[in-house]
Amino acid sequence: MCGIVAYIGPREAYPVILKGLKRLEYRGYDSSGVALLNDELRVYKKKGKVAELEDSLVGKDLHAHAGMGHTRWATHGEPNDRNAHPHSSASGRLAMIHNGIIENYTQLKQELMRKGYVFKSDTDTEVLLNFIEDIQQNNQCGLEEAVRIALKRVVGAYVIVLLDRDTPDTLIAARKGSPLVIGIGKGEHFLASDASPIIEYTKEVVYVNDYELAILKSDELILKNLGNDKITPFIQKLDMEMAAIEKGGYEHFMLKEIFEQPATIFDCLRGRLDVVKGTITMAGIQQHIEKLSTAKRIIMIGCGTSWHAGLVAEYVFEELCRIPVEVEYASEFRYRNPVVHPGDVIIAISQSGETADTIVAIEKAKENGAFILGVVNVVGSSIARISNAGAYTHAGPEIGVASTKAFTAQLAVLTMIALKIAKERGSIDTTRYMHLLNELHSVPEKVKEVLKLNGAIQKLAEKYKEAKDALYLGRGYNFAVALEGALKLKEISYIHAEGYPAAEMKHGPIALVDEALPVVFVATRDSYHEKIVSNIQEVKARKGKIVAVISEGDTIIESMADDCMVIPEADELIAPMLSVIPLQLLAYYSGVAKGYDVDKPRNLAKSVTVE
Ligand code: AGP
Ligand code: GLU
Repeated sequence: MCGIVAYIGPREAYPVILKGLKRLEYRGYDSSGVALLNDELRVYKKKGKVAELEDSLVGKDLHAHAGMGHTRWATHGEPNDRNAHPHSSASGRLAMIHNGIIENYTQLKQELMRKGYVFKSDTDTEVLLNFIEDIQQNNQCGLEEAVRIALKRVVGAYVIVLLDRDTPDTLIAARKGSPLVIGIGKGEHFLASDASPIIEYTKEVVYVNDYELAILKSDELILKNLGNDKITPFIQKLDMEMAAIEKGGYEHFMLKEIFEQPATIFDCLRGRLDVVKGTITMAGIQQHIEKLSTAKRIIMIGCGTSWHAGLVAEYVFEELCRIPVEVEYASEFRYRNPVVHPGDVIIAISQSGETADTIVAIEKAKENGAFILGVVNVVGSSIARISNAGAYTHAGPEIGVASTKAFTAQLAVLTMIALKIAKERGSIDTTRYMHLLNELHSVPEKVKEVLKLNGAIQKLAEKYKEAKDALYLGRGYNFAVALEGALKLKEISYIHAEGYPAAEMKHGPIALVDEALPVVFVATRDSYHEKIVSNIQEVKARKGKIVAVISEGDTIIESMADDCMVIPEADELIAPMLSVIPLQLLAYYSGVAKGYDVDKPRNLAKSVTVE
């Protein structure tokens, strides 16, 4: 949930760290800080965004060739200066930054307080830091050993990076449950929560695994497990380009990522979908096709937008594969006592691959013998690595906090997986199979058509920006799209919006309808069309404002609605990849019209790696 950057080598560390933190602010921006080490250990930190920290450091001594930085999303202790990272140990000899939650920090804190420790902050991080220092002093051991001993007692998730004033040529880092990437340079090393702060310096990276410790000098990388055994680093080559990180000329990452969707969906299909041969090639799926096609049940697990992708997938998988599907909020699944059998297949959906609730839900399902299929965007992420198999969505880095391109890529991947399983099971005939392959193949071009609505939707957002509430209604495959559209509007414009099955409206929500309430119908032409026309009539009779996403040529709804967003026809099973896009644009322009920071909405972070 936070962003971590560290550097050791011949460069001035501060500029590397500062630029890296700015690239990671999407992971949390309550406060930020840096620790710089040469002959002395200096810590500078404050509440607020990285730019505010930068301003506060003008004129300070920032010279160092080793250092680290942190941009925080608070979990323990409100966002303020003293809870900001890096934290200093009681003796002042150590500094540490941390991403994650130390779940047993209260117990550790009590032990330390009984020894006379006094804490400067309310964070769990400071407790762990002093716990490490206490071990080092009592055991008269090196810092590396003290970290290993301490982490064996820690319950929770962490990436930690430590600087020791007495060893200015070394960084120590450790990881469990939060992400950490090492950049391998020439005579220099980088550490970061993801590759974006590293890529402009080197494309050689090592993804640190759980329970691993990294000891970094400018010209040496040692990787160990908590048992002090050396591990050979697995060096990978980054395929992400710098341009993929910058805004590419758009005002916000969110708009850039909405407009990237023709390309990202194409990238998602590329090398997999072959409409000429009528094949879908997905090695990670093919390898386990027997297990997947004989599954007694499929459980989709995810959070937020990823959960919405799972809801669309429920309808797709049941329709094509005729396998019972359930969709579970990961945060609910992990805390109840779910019935999971060997033979069940869990499809874990996550853009970041680091969502704590989803990770723990997976672990829980694994304990019960389920097979885990990960549908993830971030290569090398935790969920990607703990799954038994998987498929990457290849949507590229999604920087905007609101998930857009990752959602449509998730739908594309899930649809391809469903088609492969259906083909294996013989639950789909060749005609429908080929029809859907062609429908999938046409999505990138159709998305380009939908994006031409950009200007009109900007005007629509202006028209409704003062609304206090909104209802989003859809049926069948578009029900999940209605939920997703409502979530986008909420998280970007802070307008309260509720998604609902259109038919359910008469069981209560219709009481909300009056001339001030915009009701957004996701009403593309499908097998539910005439029913949703009746729902629109019901709202119209009560003077509700009707905004509708409709298919080209739908003159019926066009004559009834106050405003329409017209998109190309598509098979109802494929339509969500198109019908969601006007809603993404509507949310984006609503947030812009209200003057909000749409890339960093209040209270949110891009990757929820804590509970
Ligand atoms: C979506 O716009 C939100 N940012 C949020 O609901 C997100 O989808 C959720 O936190 C799940 O994240 P994940 O896909 O990275 O697991
Ligand atoms: N739990 C730590 C804190 O609240 C770290 C939170 C984070 O990952 O940003 O400071």
